[in-house]
Amino acid sequence: MKAAIFYSGKFGSTKKYAFWINERTYLPVFDLAMERPDPSEYDLLILGSSIIAMKPTIQKWLKANWSNIKNKPVLLFTVSGTEPGHPDLKKWLVNSLSEALLSQVYHVPLRGRLILDELPWSVRLIMKFAARVEKDPDTKKRMEEGFDYMDKSSIEPILKWVSDMVDKEHLKLSEPQVV
Ligand SMILES: Cc1cc2nc3c(=O)[nH]c(=O)nc-3n(C[C@H](O)[C@H](O)[C@H](O)COP(=O)(O)O)c2cc1C
Repeated sequence: MKAAIFYSGKFGSTKKYAFWINERTYLPVFDLAMERPDPSEYDLLILGSSIIAMKPTIQKWLKANWSNIKNKPVLLFTVSGTEPGHPDLKKWLVNSLSEALLSQVYHVPLRGRLILDELPWSVRLIMKFAARVEKDPDTKKRMEEGFDYMDKSSIEPILKWVSDMVDKEHLKLSEPQVV
C-alpha cells in the first residue's frame, strides 16, 4: 500500500507536525506549495492544513483533488490557534469544504504556533488591526501576544489511525513503519 503526507501551511507549524508524523511512520511528505504529487497514486492520505483567516489553506487543493481521493481513507489534520473542540473550527471547515466532504475524512484538530516577531511586517499589521476589533478575549490575547501550543504528543491519534487502517485493510505500508 502506498501512503503519504500532503501538507499546506504558511508559517512552519503544519510542516513541523508533518515531519513529526514522518519521523514515526516513515511516510513521504509533500509540501503542496512546492510540489504537485498525484494523490491518485496513493491508497491512504494524511492531509495537513493550517487555518488562516477562518479557512483551511488546503481548501483549493482539496476541492480540486477530491474526486481522486474521496473513496480512500483520508485523514485531515488542521493546525490553528483555536483549541480543538471549539465550535468555530467545525464551522470554518464546513463553510470551506462542505459537510459532505468532511463526513468522509477523519479530522484531527491540532494547535499551532504564532511568533509575532517572525511574521512579515504586513501580516503583523493585519494581526494588530484584527486584534482591535476581536471580541473574544482569548482570541484577542492570542493575536496580541502570539502563542506556542506545538505539542509532539498530539499526533498520537494520527499514528493510531494509520495503524488501525493498516490492520483493518490487512495492508502493509510499502516503507518500514514504526507507528
Ligand atoms: C494571518 C493569520 C491568520 C490566522 N487566522 C486564524 C484563524 O482564523 N483561526 C485560528 O484558529 N487561527 C488562526 N491563525 C493562527 C494559525 O492557525 C496558527 O498560527 C498556525 O500554527 C499556523 O500554521 P502554519 O505555521 O503552518 O501556517 C492565524 C494566523 C495568522 C498568521
